[in-house]
Amino acid sequence: MSSVSPVSLPAWGQLAKQALALAPIADLLNDSGRNQRLHLSAAGITADFSKQRVAGSTLDTLLLLARQVDLEAHRRSLLEGGIVNVTENRPALHTALRTPAGKGLPGIETEVQRTRARVADFVSRIRDGSLRGCTRKPFRHVVYIGIGGSHLGPELAVRALGTDRRLDIRFVSNIDGYALSQALDGCDPERTLFVTASKSFSTLETLENSRTARSWFLERTGLADGVANHFAAISANVEAAAAFGIHPDNVFPMWDWVGGRYSLWSAVGMPVALALGNSAFDALLAGARAMDEHFADAPLEHNMPVLAALFGVWNTNFLGAENHAVLAYDERLTLLPLYLQQLETESNGKRTRVDGTAVDTHTMPILWGGVGTSGQHAYHQLLHQGTRAFSADFIFTAESATPLLHHHRWLQANALAQSQAMFLGDATTQPEKQVPGNHATTTLVLDRLDAYHLGALLALHEHQVFCQGVIWGINSFDQWGVELGKRLANPIHEALEGGESRMQDASTRFLINHLRAFDQSSASSGSQP
Ligand code: F6P
Repeated sequence: MSSVSPVSLPAWGQLAKQALALAPIADLLNDSGRNQRLHLSAAGITADFSKQRVAGSTLDTLLLLARQVDLEAHRRSLLEGGIVNVTENRPALHTALRTPAGKGLPGIETEVQRTRARVADFVSRIRDGSLRGCTRKPFRHVVYIGIGGSHLGPELAVRALGTDRRLDIRFVSNIDGYALSQALDGCDPERTLFVTASKSFSTLETLENSRTARSWFLERTGLADGVANHFAAISANVEAAAAFGIHPDNVFPMWDWVGGRYSLWSAVGMPVALALGNSAFDALLAGARAMDEHFADAPLEHNMPVLAALFGVWNTNFLGAENHAVLAYDERLTLLPLYLQQLETESNGKRTRVDGTAVDTHTMPILWGGVGTSGQHAYHQLLHQGTRAFSADFIFTAESATPLLHHHRWLQANALAQSQAMFLGDATTQPEKQVPGNHATTTLVLDRLDAYHLGALLALHEHQVFCQGVIWGINSFDQWGVELGKRLANPIHEALEGGESRMQDASTRFLINHLRAFDQSSASSGSQP
């Protein structure tokens, strides 16, 4: 990986100058030659980057920046299994999980195909009822337990694509007992399959939820042997899954060369297949694969993830965008902002470069978002008249999800109107009604939302994240920043359980004491549930 700061590159200095003398987006849109360069289609997705605040000359300089960081060599390295995760000395081989049989990376191809076949077989047998619970009843409920990268992708995909209702699939991630209770509510224990997804099989939330689920199952069935049939695991720590009591046939491997937030394409994506059949999961992989091929083969100037990455850098580092809003005009994509929040901020929310030096640029801005049109009646006020600089992506489909076409036309009209308002603004003379506009946005139109297009959309973002990481010179594949909080939670948990709290800071000690006093008084009054 390059250790040159992007700031020291000639293109960076040119971009800084160009940012000082930029025409408004409304004027830039009069240049049809420029617009044409900013309209791209790949893998069933059409991207309109023409509402970005870039002149044709700036686009040239951004592409020059990509060449000066040697983005093409980094792309090759990612796709060919180079050690791109330098702090953990690993490749990041999520793209190898979606290669068709016979076209995978030597060394892992056999294992990838074998696991895919095992997952497919397991799913078929659950869905057709031939694999049953320990009292010979077919499974009806699936409780999928995982967190972060082991959860967000599968739940997003199942919510986006729906289920054929053969199975009732529920998700639990939070350690909050309310979440698990809700997920278990109404499940018939003799017809419930639990799937624990944890790459490490040591994540607090996932293990606690799985242990409580196991107790729930045992209390209701009294069948200690049943754990082997009713629990499955997806993990790189196969021994720990076996020690939990899960039958080896029900343990599906992950590998250290797949990051959690890039793992939907592995056995972690099993809920998609459980919900809609193996062909849906195959289509998800095929869509992602189509985007991989576009990313690998298209020249930088026609490459959708590359352009998306360059505009992200441009907005963050040169136009001062402090946050990025994902505005999905599709009810089925309600979880997309959360998924992208993890993918992008856990990947690129970094301050140390690959050579160990501190970054001298901003990296990933805050990513948030929601669904349109609901958001228009909430935070769009801030987007239009607030004081913070932001960029935004509008995402919607050409095809309607339902026969209610007139609803779909209104949905599309609102997405287009909002993206227009974002750059157009309103220069009325009444101050309270003035809207500054000139905010950069990208519009992504999926032909339709099915497994193929969802796969392509997610792969587009994965590659965008990678390219931005390369430009910023950071490692997009580690996440050391999350470790501190995990460490600190242990002694605090002990103190809440009645242990020592003197070593805590004054604020934390006060709060621990408050919670302990509350527990004691509820216990003595008998009001604790
Ligand atoms: O939040 C940190 C993290 O390590 C994520 O990167 C990961 O996806 C999540 O926790 C869950 O980890 P695991 O799959 O090991 O349970």
